[in-house]
Amino acid sequence: MPDAPTTSPTPAADPASKSMDDIVALCKRRGFVYPASEIYGGINGFWDYGPLGTALKNNIRDHWWRRTVEAPPLGPDGNPVEVVGLDSAIIQNPKTWEASGHVGGFSDPRVDCKECKSRFRADHVRGIRVTFTGAEGVFWSSTTNTGMDAEADTQRFIDRLIDKKAEKERPPVFTSTRVTFHPLDDPATPRAEIPCPACKTRGSLMEPRQFNLMFESETGAVSGETMKVYLRPETAQGIFLNFKNVVDTMRVKMPFGIAQIGKSFRNEVTPRNFIFRSREFEQMEMEWFCAPDEAPQWYDFWKHERMKWWESLGIDKSSLRFRDHDHDELAHYSKMCVDVEYQYPFTAPGFGELEGIAHRGDFDLTQHQQHSGQKLEYFDQERQVALQNQGVDKEEIRARSRYIPNVIEPASGLTRAVLVLLCEAYTPDASRPSGMYMKFHPRMAPITAGIFPLVNKDGMPEVAQNLYMNLREKFAVQLDVKQNIGKRYARMDEAGAPFCFTIDGNTLSDQTLTVRHRDTQAQERIGLDHVERFLAEHVEG
Ligand code: GAP
Repeated sequence: MPDAPTTSPTPAADPASKSMDDIVALCKRRGFVYPASEIYGGINGFWDYGPLGTALKNNIRDHWWRRTVEAPPLGPDGNPVEVVGLDSAIIQNPKTWEASGHVGGFSDPRVDCKECKSRFRADHVRGIRVTFTGAEGVFWSSTTNTGMDAEADTQRFIDRLIDKKAEKERPPVFTSTRVTFHPLDDPATPRAEIPCPACKTRGSLMEPRQFNLMFESETGAVSGETMKVYLRPETAQGIFLNFKNVVDTMRVKMPFGIAQIGKSFRNEVTPRNFIFRSREFEQMEMEWFCAPDEAPQWYDFWKHERMKWWESLGIDKSSLRFRDHDHDELAHYSKMCVDVEYQYPFTAPGFGELEGIAHRGDFDLTQHQQHSGQKLEYFDQERQVALQNQGVDKEEIRARSRYIPNVIEPASGLTRAVLVLLCEAYTPDASRPSGMYMKFHPRMAPITAGIFPLVNKDGMPEVAQNLYMNLREKFAVQLDVKQNIGKRYARMDEAGAPFCFTIDGNTLSDQTLTVRHRDTQAQERIGLDHVERFLAEHVEG
């Protein structure tokens, strides 16, 4: 088979050059993501995944499951680590959420504007105070950004002030400007000075209030016998509740992981940035249980494994980075946490969260042990024997071989991963009919290949149909006989199909067809009987 020009000669497009409006429009136009309940005017924070979006999401989900549960990474000893799967209920006994701390503490500070009724996260609203030295005074503005755009916002604000003054009287005379930021959730911030980020009314923002993010419902049909329940805000707790079941029924030995993928729900104060922060979303979480004294090594291990996994989706290394949490931003359960961050078009040149890898210590199992009265300790027989062989004294053996495991938790958003792949794949290219194409990794692409007869006659449709029937059980192929070939290529570019196979007049005589490579638009001929192997090599490779 000839060498295939599969890799693009073009470097990854600069995230800042990609417009979220264009990406959202493409998602709607090509069936990746639709606003939920659109015919009723939509519903804020909820999205539906269309045919291509569902296929993309399933590809990410399956790849995560494969590399986490079915073929997990090799551990430090060179053997695969052990991870088992789980699918727990979305609604659990409400005591779960008291024990986990979510009833008491899973809240965001919310602030309302009494004029325009807009609602914001108080920790996302920051007053910008600009002091012009040289008799021009002090001015206030606001931003709803968490800091990502603060510099640009501030510059825009200063420019506007100067323009306004210049219009009215004369260009302002000042020798310097001093800029300070004042988060609204800081009691020292003078709220009366800060204009509402939406309607710009000064002093209209009310006192910030804590707002619990869990959705509530009721179970039971008989009046008076109903119970308040919660939709889970994370998949993790279902794993902790089943820790003992898994230890008792599967032959797992410490250290091991339990993984789960599923829906989570949070009544976010300000869902935004398309599917980045929504109220219904999917998570891919793994709780890695280990002996307390081994937790730091495993934290490092998973941190690096998770970065490798993101890179295996075809994401450019320069668009990913780690960010360690400062001590004061750690969640209540967390001893250490590092985020994998991605450079989204709406954060560029900054980065935003994609996954958190947390060292949860023994917080969750200890809490559930206390609240349920069930023992959740683990007896580590192998460790006991090893310590005995080392001649360690009995007291120490007892202390070190019976313990509540520590947990390292890589927790990522599946729907957020869809957003990352959409942003990463979106590649402006003025030379193409749609002005862009979607550069998905062949393994992730919702359609792996289009199969086209060049014209819909002369025996070509029959060959195309045959090829399609031979491939469809193994690959996500699509047969397309409509429109001219250029339009069919353009549709596949928008869907991000890495290959198109075209059957033409020569196919009938020499049994070859044309492969068109999405990224380079280069074409080559390969034998009809090589197509399956070609796809296997490119999708799996
Ligand atoms: N069990 C830990 C946990 O849930 P988290 O940082 O709150 O930690 C993990 O969530 C991941 O879930 C985040 O890194 C993000 O990818 C995703 N996620 C969280 N809230 C989300 C939301 N409202 N919309 C979309 N994805 C979300």
